[in-house]
Amino acid sequence: MKKIICLLFMLALISQSNAQLRFDSSKGTLGSLEMPNGEKVSFTAYEKLYYVTNVEDSTYQYLNVYIPQGATQQSPIFLRTYVGGYMSSPASSPRASDATGRALKEGFVVVLPGTRGRNATIVADKAYQKAHKGVTRGETFYTGKAPAAILDLKAAIRYLRFFDKEMLGDAEHIITDGTSAGGALSSLMGATGNNPAYEPLLKAMGAADTKDNVFAAVCYCPIIDLEHADMAYEWLFNGTDSRQKGDANILTISNELKTLFPAYLNSLKLKTPEGKPLTDTNYLDYIKSELIRSAQIAKNAGATIPDSLGFVFNQESGFGAPPINGIKPDGAKIKVMNIPNSRMPQAPRGGGRQGEYIIDLDMQKYLNYVVSTQPLKTAPAFDTQGVEGQRASGENDEFGNQKEKEVNYTAFSASKTGAILSAELLKNVYLMNPMNFIEDPQTDVAPHWYIRHGARDRDTAFPVPVNLALKLQNTGKDVNFLLAWNRPHSGDYALDELFEWIKKILQ
Ligand code: DHB
Repeated sequence: MKKIICLLFMLALISQSNAQLRFDSSKGTLGSLEMPNGEKVSFTAYEKLYYVTNVEDSTYQYLNVYIPQGATQQSPIFLRTYVGGYMSSPASSPRASDATGRALKEGFVVVLPGTRGRNATIVADKAYQKAHKGVTRGETFYTGKAPAAILDLKAAIRYLRFFDKEMLGDAEHIITDGTSAGGALSSLMGATGNNPAYEPLLKAMGAADTKDNVFAAVCYCPIIDLEHADMAYEWLFNGTDSRQKGDANILTISNELKTLFPAYLNSLKLKTPEGKPLTDTNYLDYIKSELIRSAQIAKNAGATIPDSLGFVFNQESGFGAPPINGIKPDGAKIKVMNIPNSRMPQAPRGGGRQGEYIIDLDMQKYLNYVVSTQPLKTAPAFDTQGVEGQRASGENDEFGNQKEKEVNYTAFSASKTGAILSAELLKNVYLMNPMNFIEDPQTDVAPHWYIRHGARDRDTAFPVPVNLALKLQNTGKDVNFLLAWNRPHSGDYALDELFEWIKKILQ
């Protein structure tokens, strides 16, 4: 009896603390979206749903929900974050041209949360003063520095679970999606479900007292592992002509950073999907095999792979061979390529006939090609501020605090600039890296992952998404990973393929 009274009391407290979270299913408005083929998708919209009770920034801390006609309690929920560059991102509406329009057309409930970002500010009023110590009224404060964006998204997920019965759509089947910094946030939503490290922060915001794990994470070119992204970048790109023939001081930094990567890589104890241990001695070969796999898929689908990029083909010509191009081994048509052939790099004229199969790749040649399509970032690529007198990066800005716009956040850059890395800063860096949570037994990691990074994306180095995919795969998650052929830093592409995958994991 005592236990029951205690439980009722706790339930009363919980419902009281969430008293201001609201959802009224009778308050929707009708709307429609015209798809590129002219088809009209009708929906009911619920907008400006605040997902925390202690709203600090009313411009961003709410979400919009779009429920297509015919949706049920069982319909999956597609949650897309439009965060780019770790900037603030207002809640928006579905777009016919990207995955949100497509999700709506497929009958999914679409959720578009706003989030605070590194550029969000607030002028302290009475309420802000009350909630924060040592604040003078009228002063300007940053509200969206790390880890604000992931806290907002977790609060949004909790809101959907809290109102799961009242709202159509199934909060146990949330699929997150984002690109670049948004891809990082999608991977964080997938990798940090219910981890207690975020709990006190979410509680202080007035997030619903419920779970925040998700079913699947779709991550395009996630800019993650910022503690190690600088070393990974130089490990991969140090040998390119661009680094070797560039600024001598930057090359010195690059040489130093590159030597730090092997120890980190080896500490991850990664294995190939086939179970073969990966260390710094065979890791470049693994990346090479992933690039070859990507180019071969594209070639099979009819793309021209120029010899000039460094690929080596088998000598037997495809002449007279079965028509494998564009056909998967199981006979299904491949729909990987959405790039018109006119935009693909063209093969040099006068070359010999290519065989059907790519058998090798000259990595230095290929990396020089990648860097020729877009100049390399400087070194360090991310924690830049003050190293060799350089300007701050977006990441330096992301790890600032209420008053400090930009800060260093890695031991390497701090050793160059004399910056102090406070315990609070290091905690925020920790909370922004999905790699820290995948093996944490206190996390409910999403069981399904779709990770894409363009085969000519140089915004972060290939090891960053490759390590994410392998760590997830090695811990038993279902991972669909590809260094997507000829893609630059971009997202929401090959949507036929993406939604085919989503339908498969929902079966
Ligand atoms: C993004 C791109 C970057 O190169 C980066 O360092 C951080 C974010 C982006 O496009 O979101």
